[in-house]
Amino acid sequence: MILTQDELKRIAAYKAVDFVKSGMVLGLGTGSTARHAVDRIGELLRQGKLENIVGIPTSEKTEEQALSLGIPLSDLDAHPVVDLSIDGADEVDPYLNLVKGRGGSLLREKMIEGASKEFVVIVDESKMVRHIGGSRMALPVEIVPFCWRFTAGKLREVMEGYGGCEAKLRLGGEKGEAFVTDNGNYIVDMYLEKDMGDLRSVSDEILRLPGVVEHGMFLDMASTVIIAGELGVRIKNK
Ligand code: A5P
Repeated sequence: MILTQDELKRIAAYKAVDFVKSGMVLGLGTGSTARHAVDRIGELLRQGKLENIVGIPTSEKTEEQALSLGIPLSDLDAHPVVDLSIDGADEVDPYLNLVKGRGGSLLREKMIEGASKEFVVIVDESKMVRHIGGSRMALPVEIVPFCWRFTAGKLREVMEGYGGCEAKLRLGGEKGEAFVTDNGNYIVDMYLEKDMGDLRSVSDEILRLPGVVEHGMFLDMASTVIIAGELGVRIKNK
């Protein structure tokens, strides 16, 4: 039987929810894979199989979903330490480095997942890559709207040292206007021309640019990756 990509996402998500225990503070991810995990947590709460869960949503969309499921919510101000976060990813390399942010929620995701004792990533097999940020997909960078062309230009300059990139403002509004994140910022998608090489050094240089808020490389953050494929589920630990 051939499973759809959405079924694979659901399988990975349900497996991750097996890690959830009553009483935990949970980071609730964003996207089409994480959505299944949030649904499942809501279902287990309703059935009384989980109790005293506090969810910290990584986006307004997830907040809306969690509220509709009756999951009690909080934030990092009230709960600066998160027991476990579950979220999808756009790309995962063999060292469990990730690219995230295609859905535009990378800043809150990085804050919440970075504050988590455990971060479980859920993907279908198609997300596994040899090098993150290869030509297949863009690397998103959240920037302030003020003089965004200037900041996009600076990003291009930085990336010249790492193989070059095309940096495009993400559009998403109904009239073709800029996509605006939950934090009121813009996203520049960097289409890389080749592998970046030293990811930590690219990360540092991007983050040093005034105007940049955060980028979508999640380096050395995932503790576990659950990969659902046609042949079953694989679990990779750090
Ligand atoms: C949201 O901004 C993203 O980081 C998502 O977590 C990531 O894009 C994975 O999304 P899907 O599960 O929809 O592929």
